[in-house]
Amino acid sequence: MTSLWGDVQIAPSYEPDTPAVLFQGDRLDLLRQIPDGHTKLVVTSPPYNIGKKYETKIDFDEYLKQQKETIGECVRTLAPDGSLCWQVGNHVASDGEIFPLDIFIYRICADLRLKLRNRIIWSFEHGLHCRRRFSGRYETILWFTKTDDYTFNLDPVRVPQKYPGKRHFKGPKAGQFSCNPLGKNPGDLWVIPNVKHNHIEKTIHPCQFPIELVERLVLSLTNEGDLVVDPYMGVGSTACAALLHHRRAAGAELQAGYVKIARHRAGLAWEGRLPRRPVGRPVYVPGPKDRVAQMPPELDLVRRSLRTTR
Ligand SMILES: C[S@@+](CC[C@H](N)C(=O)[O-])C[C@H]1O[C@@H](n2cnc3c(N)ncnc32)[C@H](O)[C@@H]1O
Repeated sequence: MTSLWGDVQIAPSYEPDTPAVLFQGDRLDLLRQIPDGHTKLVVTSPPYNIGKKYETKIDFDEYLKQQKETIGECVRTLAPDGSLCWQVGNHVASDGEIFPLDIFIYRICADLRLKLRNRIIWSFEHGLHCRRRFSGRYETILWFTKTDDYTFNLDPVRVPQKYPGKRHFKGPKAGQFSCNPLGKNPGDLWVIPNVKHNHIEKTIHPCQFPIELVERLVLSLTNEGDLVVDPYMGVGSTACAALLHHRRAAGAELQAGYVKIARHRAGLAWEGRLPRRPVGRPVYVPGPKDRVAQMPPELDLVRRSLRTTR
């Protein structure tokens, strides 16, 4: 397999000059192979300890201890100008009480002397329908840096302005355009569809990242040739985003089936053939003529009868 960047090389264990290292095994066994200061960006979504098919639910304190071990080892590998982005939702206890994981992860990272730069809200429309609380439709990304001297490239991730023709209306710049022609800062509320059944990137993994989400982090927090690491890589979405933009990638995953898919996707990303949702495509809004967006008459009858009996 080749690309403009040369032949694809996907190594099974860490080699500093190999573009992609996709390791099958525990995250600490990969991280310990990476020398101090080699990583520019860590992006990951760990298991939430909620009993998904790829995890065994454990005591919450033990879970946090394991998260601390992973983050500590990530920080050791981080370059001084590097960043760590931990994407999490809620841990849900057996009685339904929720524990927003970012509250706990923040404390761990602050104790490791990382500095929080943004708490990004990732909002999406689809997911489980809850019966005894409002359905969860956002998760967070905690973006930390190791020092105050960190890489942040805003221009590659600017988004279109709402009013690009707006002008300064008073003062010395009166009459001149007030917007940056490259677009505006995307802000810290990101509306990006999550990968559900009809998504073009869907694999067998139940919780994969949309590639666009990682691309924004890769483009803004790294430069070409930098190393991007995902200690819980799943089907390799982080690696794909890194390779698409000529960064190096390393990831660890316990499940052999997911690693196989990650290697396949990384090869396609390298060749520019990976099926993916284009960056910046607006979220789909059904039109009035879409059949599934119309209330079927038989359901409408049920709805009316339920309303009158309330
Ligand atoms: C939330 S998923 C990450 C999905 C990923 N972001 C993607 O786009 O495919 C967490 C992954 O961590 C893996 N995992 C769990 N414990 C692990 C460990 N100790 N070392 C490496 N991977 C682990 C799980 O098998 C699961 O695929």
